[in-house]
Amino acid sequence: MTLQNDLIIRAAKGEKTERVPVWLMRQAGRILPEYRAVRNSVSGFIELAQTPELAAEVTIQPVDILGVDAAIIFSDILVIPEAMGLPYKMIEKKGPFFEETIKSEADLKKVRIADPHEDLNYVAEAIKITKRELNGRVPLIGFAGAPWTIFSYMVEGSGSKTFSKAKKMLYAEPELSHKLLEMITESTIKYLKMQIECGADIVQIFDSWAGILSPTQYDEFALKYISKICDAINEVPVTVFAKGAFFARKRMSDLNCETIGLDWNMSFAASRRLIGDSKTLQGNLDPCVLYSSDKEIERQTIQMLEEFGGHRHIANLGHGVYPDIKPEKVKVFIETVKKWRA
Ligand code: CP3
Repeated sequence: MTLQNDLIIRAAKGEKTERVPVWLMRQAGRILPEYRAVRNSVSGFIELAQTPELAAEVTIQPVDILGVDAAIIFSDILVIPEAMGLPYKMIEKKGPFFEETIKSEADLKKVRIADPHEDLNYVAEAIKITKRELNGRVPLIGFAGAPWTIFSYMVEGSGSKTFSKAKKMLYAEPELSHKLLEMITESTIKYLKMQIECGADIVQIFDSWAGILSPTQYDEFALKYISKICDAINEVPVTVFAKGAFFARKRMSDLNCETIGLDWNMSFAASRRLIGDSKTLQGNLDPCVLYSSDKEIERQTIQMLEEFGGHRHIANLGHGVYPDIKPEKVKVFIETVKKWRA
C-alpha cells in the first residue's frame, strides 16, 4: 500500500518535505468527545484497547477530526508488563495499578519474555484493521515504552512522582535490575517487530520517566537498552522520546534511530548542537500553550517552526496533549503548522 501522505516518513529519513508534518503525542483518546462516546460503550480503557475494531476506530478519529499527518495505534505502553506476566488495572482518575510487582530476585519467576503473537494478538488485529481503514491516507505509528519506563511501573506498581522504589532497585540490586531490563528489552523488540509486520510505518519509543535518573544511571540502565532496541529495528524509522533526558542528548546522537523527540525544556539550538545534523528532531511546543488564546497559540507555534527551520522537523508537543485541552485549540496548532512554509 503506497502512502498518499508520507511526510512524516520522509521527514524522519531527512528527505525534503513540502511542509513540516505534524501529529500529537496522546492524540488518540483523551481530548475528543467522539473518543469518550466509544469509551463509554465498553467497560473501560482496557476493554477498548483489547477490542480491535474499536481500537482502530479511535486510532483514526484524530486523522478525520483533527487532520494530523499520522495515526498512532490506540494501546498503552503497559501491555508489555501484562504480556510478561504482570496484569494491570486502569483506575478511573488515578491511572495504572499493578497488583503484583517485582520486589526481589524471587519475583523474576513471575515474569517471562513476552510472546506478542500470543499475548498481544489484539494489537496485531487492531493494526491490521487500522491500516485497511486508513487506506494509505497517512502513516501509522507503532509504539512501546522504553525498558526503564516499563521497569519503573513493574517495580513501583503504579504511577509515582519520584519512582523511588524503582530507582532504589537500580542502586541496591543492579544485577536483578539488569536481568529484568534485559527481559523487557527482548519483549519490546519482538513486540515492535510484530507491529511492523502488521503494518506500522514508523515506531516510537516512549521513555516517559527518563528525567528522574542521574546521567550515569541513565547511561547504564536506560540508554543501553534503548540502543539495543534501535539496533534491532531496521525495517522502519525509529523515534526515541526520552522526557527530561536533556543531559543525555549528546549520547543519544549515537543511537541507531532516525528521530529524537524533544520536550519543551530542550531548546532547539542546544539540541541540534548536541545531537548533530544527522537526526530529525520532533517536538516541542509546551502542551500548556494550548490553554492560551488562538492568537498566542499561532504566535508560539510559528516561533517554534522558525527555530527548527523547516527541515528534519516533525512538529509535535513537548509531551502528550493534556486531557482538558479543547480540540479547537489543537486544531489551531495543527492548522498553523500546515500553513507555514520555511
Ligand atoms: O498517543 C496515543 O494517543 C495512543 C495511545 C496511548 C495511550 N497511552 C492510551 C491511553 C499511548 C501512546 C500511551 C502511552 C503511555 N501510557 C505513556 C507514555 C507517554 C507519556 O504520556 O508519557 C505512559 C507513561 C502511559 C501509562 C499510562 N496510561 C498512564 C500513566 C495512564 C493514566 C493517565 C493518563 O495518561 O491518561 C494511562 C491511561 C491511558 N492510556 C489512557 C489512554 C487513552 C486514558 C484511559 C482512559 O480512557 O480512561
